[in-house]
Amino acid sequence: HRHLLGIEGLSPADIVGLLDRAEDAVEVSRQVEKKRATLRGRTQINLFFEPSTRTQSSFELAGKRLGADVMNMSVASSSVKKGETLIDTAATLNAMRPDIIVVRHHAAGAVHLLARKVDCSVVNAGDGIHEHPTQALLDALTIRRNKGRIEGLVVAICGDILHSRVARSNILLLQALGARVRCIGPSTLLPVGLDRFGVEIFTDMRKGLDGVDIVMMLRLQRERMNGSFVPSVKEYFHFYGLDREKLALAKPDALVMHPGPMNRGVEIDSEVADGAQSLIREQVEMGVAVRMAVLEALGSHLPNT
Ligand code: CP
Repeated sequence: HRHLLGIEGLSPADIVGLLDRAEDAVEVSRQVEKKRATLRGRTQINLFFEPSTRTQSSFELAGKRLGADVMNMSVASSSVKKGETLIDTAATLNAMRPDIIVVRHHAAGAVHLLARKVDCSVVNAGDGIHEHPTQALLDALTIRRNKGRIEGLVVAICGDILHSRVARSNILLLQALGARVRCIGPSTLLPVGLDRFGVEIFTDMRKGLDGVDIVMMLRLQRERMNGSFVPSVKEYFHFYGLDREKLALAKPDALVMHPGPMNRGVEIDSEVADGAQSLIREQVEMGVAVRMAVLEALGSHLPNT
């Protein structure tokens, strides 16, 4: 593949290949000397139109650990603020001859559009409510390392499914590798047509969590709700917030995940987020490894390698 635009379009073999490659990157990242020369001489541009802590910094570290020259485009102080369009911005950066552009944008489909306008490889770092493929890959890597497999596991994805690109990418990836996926949330936060994804749907957290292996919590994305969130945050925590009592309904060895950033006390209680069953910190570590794997895989398809 020349680009990574979504989990959609990847075969199970593609996904497993990236996860296996990421295992090597975990080892590299745990060494004192972390630098490799795989992408030496290559230029990577990170172009983030939406805020990010984890994704942007891990793509930057990943590129640098592979020896690439990494430039973080500061959208907030760029000519985007003067009205320059996405396409003109892409054409401008393309003229500087990057090898890889990593893009996050608030509009679903914007990254696909950009990929058609540039000559280099493009990685989707989150496009609106559509996909966040490297998040799903890092989640799968974290699960596989802790459970030894993906196939046959029951994974509950909980909360604001409607606005979640993380949920969409995870549903596609986990099902491709043979997991059973449940989606749990209030009906106001479940997208129309979710049943077509082949997931089990629950509006009652207590029923949905019964016997699951993995509890994946999602952030309540109030920035995408135009002030029309129903129910109230207090009610939401009562019914859908993951606390010790609700977690006890899952399997005794169930593990807890959250892509971050977390709203503590809204979708997850601190006691659970920081507890013994939480994989949240490990997800962040796996994020760097997975992004190294993706950049390296794309790099192997760049011209003149
Ligand atoms: N999980 C995730 O995408 O986090 P950031 O928004 O901080 O990149």
